[in-house]
Order: sequence, then C-alpha cells, then structure tokens
Amino acid sequence: PFYLVMEDDGSAHGVFLLNSNAMDVLLQPSPALTWRTTGGILDFYIFLGPDPKSVVRQYLDVVGFPFMPPYWGLGFHLCRWGYSSTDITRQVVANMTAARFPLDVQWNDLDYADAKRDFTFNKKSFKDYPEMVQDFHRCGLRYIMIVDAGISSSGPPGTYKPYDEGLKRGVFIRNATGQPLVGKVWPGPTVFPDFTNPETHEWWHDMVKDFHDQVPFDGMWLDMNEPSNFVEGSQDGCPQNNLEQPPYVPGVFGGRLRAGTICASSQQFLSSHYNLHSLYGLTEAIASHNALLRVRGKRPFVISRSTFAGHGRYAGHWTGDVGSNWEQLYYSIPEVLLFNLFGVPLVGADICGFAGDTSEELCVRWTQLGAFYPFMRNHNDHGTRPQEPYAFSPADSTIHSKGQWILLPAPLDTINVHVRAGHILPLQEPAFSTAQSRRRGMALVVALTPDGFARGDLFWDDGESWETFERGDYTEILFLATHGAVLSQLLRGSPHLDGVLLEAVTVLGVSSPPRQVLANGAIVSDFSYRSDTQVLRVPVSLPMWEQFVISWS
Ligand code: GLC
Repeated sequence: PFYLVMEDDGSAHGVFLLNSNAMDVLLQPSPALTWRTTGGILDFYIFLGPDPKSVVRQYLDVVGFPFMPPYWGLGFHLCRWGYSSTDITRQVVANMTAARFPLDVQWNDLDYADAKRDFTFNKKSFKDYPEMVQDFHRCGLRYIMIVDAGISSSGPPGTYKPYDEGLKRGVFIRNATGQPLVGKVWPGPTVFPDFTNPETHEWWHDMVKDFHDQVPFDGMWLDMNEPSNFVEGSQDGCPQNNLEQPPYVPGVFGGRLRAGTICASSQQFLSSHYNLHSLYGLTEAIASHNALLRVRGKRPFVISRSTFAGHGRYAGHWTGDVGSNWEQLYYSIPEVLLFNLFGVPLVGADICGFAGDTSEELCVRWTQLGAFYPFMRNHNDHGTRPQEPYAFSPADSTIHSKGQWILLPAPLDTINVHVRAGHILPLQEPAFSTAQSRRRGMALVVALTPDGFARGDLFWDDGESWETFERGDYTEILFLATHGAVLSQLLRGSPHLDGVLLEAVTVLGVSSPPRQVLANGAIVSDFSYRSDTQVLRVPVSLPMWEQFVISWS
C-alpha cells in the first residue's frame, strides 16, 4: 500500500496507507488513484521527496531499513523440487564443481522432509542429511531448506513434536469454536501458527533450534505463508458471519476472502484473520529472523514468499512460481526493481523459470539477467527439464535436427558446426601451422544415424609429393560404426602414419547410457556420457595405423 509518483519535471512524492485489510487500488485515467480498504485505520503518510530517492528514504524511515544479509547470501543459489535424496543433492554439488560453476548455497525443497513435515527429515533418502550439510560447510558452501507455514496435524499424539508442543502452548490460529483451525497443505491436514502471539515466537525458536541442533542449516526459506491452503477456509468450511461475507469484497483471488487461504473470521492473538491476513508472511519472517539470530548468532538469512510493508528489515523475497517463459523473465525486472523501492532489496525470481520446461536460450539469458538480481537463485519445479547451469551444452550447442529450418545465431566468435548423421570425421588438434598440427593426436567424431550407423575414411599422404594417389603412395583407413561399435580397417597403406595416435572417440546419438566401453577388448573406465546430448566420449591412446574396435554396451 505505497505509491511513488514522478512528475514531468523529475520531482516526486509518495503516499503510504499503513493498513493491512483487503483492499483495491484502482488507477484512474484522471490521473488519480482510488483506494478502497475493507477495514482498519486510515493511517496515511505523505512523503514530499522532492526527488524519488528521498521519497524512498522517507518511506523507509517509517517502515524500517533493510537488514544486512550475510555476504554469502549474495552468491549463487541452486535449488529444485525433486532433489529426492542426499545422494542426488551431493551429486548436484559435485556436478557444479566439475563444470566449474560458482555456487555459494545449495538448497533442498520438501524432498528432505519426512512426509513433507517441517523440522523433520526422511531417515531413508536423507539418512546422512546432517553429514551432507557438514560436508558442504567443509567445502565453503552454505545450506538452506524449505519451511512451510502449515504444521502437520494428523499424526497421533507423541509422534510429531512441533504439533504436540504447539498445541500445548496454544500457538495455532483458532476457528469459531476456539479449536485450532485445520486446513490442508503439502503434508495433508495442517494447523497454522499464529505469529502475532509472542508465545508462538518462543515455540518457533525452540523448533528451529531443535532442528538446527541436528542439521546445521544456514538460512530459512519460508513458503506457503500467505497462508496458503488447499481447501477453502478450513476442512470444515467457515461460519456465516459479517467477516466471511462482508458488504464489499475487493478483487481478490477467487472472489472470496477465504479462497486459497484460511477463514477470515478465524482468531489470532492480536485480532481476527480478516485484519491480519496480509501480515502473515511478515510476522513469520520476524519470528524466523529472530530465531535464526538466537540459534546461529550470525546475520540471519530468510527468504519469504509473502511480504508486507517493512518486510525488508527482517527478510528477503522471491517472486513465487514463475513460468519458464520470456514474458515472466521480462516481468521479473520491474518486480525486482519495485521490491527495491519497497525496501526489500534482497529479491529475485526463480532463474530459468519454475513451472514448465525451460529452454537453453531462455535459461542462459535468465542466468545473465539473474546475475543482476540481488538474490540469485535457480529453482525448478519437480518433473520438469533439468536447468542447473551444467545441464546445458558447454558452449558452442548440440542440436539434433531432422528436416526443420533452424535459425542459429552466429556471432563473430562462433562457428556453427553441422555434422550429418551417418558420417565419421577424423579431427586433429589445431596448432600454429599444419606442419605442427599433422603431428598432433587425432580424434574421431562419429555421428550415428537413428539406427546406429556411420561411416567415414581418412586419406593420408606426406602432403607434398607429386601424384601420391596415382602412385599409390598413401594410406587409407575406413571407419565403420554399427551395432554399438566403431572399428577401423586399413585399406591400404604405409604403416606408421607418421606415428600419429588416436586419442579420443566422440560418438553422437548414443540413445542410452552405456554401462561398459571396451577398446580392443580392454575396459575403458574413464569414458563419459551425457544423456541430455546423447554424447559418448571415449579417451583412448591407439596407434592410428593399427586396426581397432571400440564398443559400448
Ligand atoms: C510452492 C513454492 C515452490 C516450491 C513448492 C514445493 O509452489 O512456491 O517454490 O518448490 O511449493 O515446496
């Protein structure tokens, strides 16, 4: 509820309505704004600037200046829903290191938790969870996991401490009959901590500390804290009263105040949820910030989906479930800039997009843009195409095409190379002259047809003698690939081929990951395979003039 106006001459003013009720803000053509709020106090602040920077400063004088994040929080963060075990999470970090990408903070989504419940971890797939986080710390990384607002309420008493303790200490939002209101979020039936209650802050600190004593995480990711609810209002619906059916409902999601959240008339320590709904994320962020400070004794790092005026004093923000498309990349720019005006500078959108499959071009551009987000995190939905920086081609890219027109960018420093399926190309390492390069090691590029066939040959002579072909003074080698093998056959020739060695074979179009690779019957243990590009690389050291067979299965 804050706006800033720029006049034609560059002078600016701002208006802030400190009010947390559901409201409409309509932009009139006049120019004018119409503000309609459904409750609370008309507590207006007018900031006279006269320049935009002063307006922001005057606004922050009222709501609070942003917290100083830890330095590591400004580094690169990597996350996805679907890192389903510690093994997979460790592998992601190893892949980042191997591909030489910077990484400051590794994250886990709900996958770590036991039955998606806060402050628990899966004792099978995440059995070495504490050790994994310690190992990350040893190599200079930080670690963050998701924490949802809803606390699972369906387990039998004595099985889940956050719920048992919370019930005992009376920290959950209550329904009309005074019982904890039960909604439904990822773990199933859930209750919602009331962060306007000071006792809830103590309970939250105790839960954060208990979990931190087991898993030494470095920051908290607060999600579903609008609060979000998969059933409307509660599992038992909502009562009929003037808070549930007010005379006017602003243009909110679903047209009803309880749509996607809890009943408006549910009771919190300070007031009704009708008055406090917009403050849920802020109050949870304050509790989390303070809990982390007490538990770790260092600058807290908290990222939250829901925010309110003043949030930046305690936490940062990510812009929620953006789609993997250009439009969402575009809109992330004003959104990140606006949150800077709101005093929440630690903000970013999910790089490469969250929902749906990204594309290589989108992901590269989004990573380039994301370098300018103060909070730079690549996060992905489960079940979609991988989008870690290493998931794409190293530079130059591989495209499998069949009869389509594809427009390829060809900037000054890029040469697009097209290899027709069914061909084998001998390559030689470059050097400053052909005299040097012809003594260098050779490689073969084998571009398989869909049914696994390719053919190629090498003609080799001394490079300057007269009529070597006519005199038969040359070497010719045939290369054939079929049935999971590539072999050479010396058709003619002078032995030795100037002593040149075959040093690598790259096979394009290997559709499934090979378990074993053999070179002349000997096991090659250091081959590599990428399933996204279907490329098999086999390092070898074989005399070019001797026949060889390289096979994979
Ligand atoms: C919500 C979050 C998203 C997260 C998912 C699963 O949709 O916005 O970032 O991956 O929940 O926890």
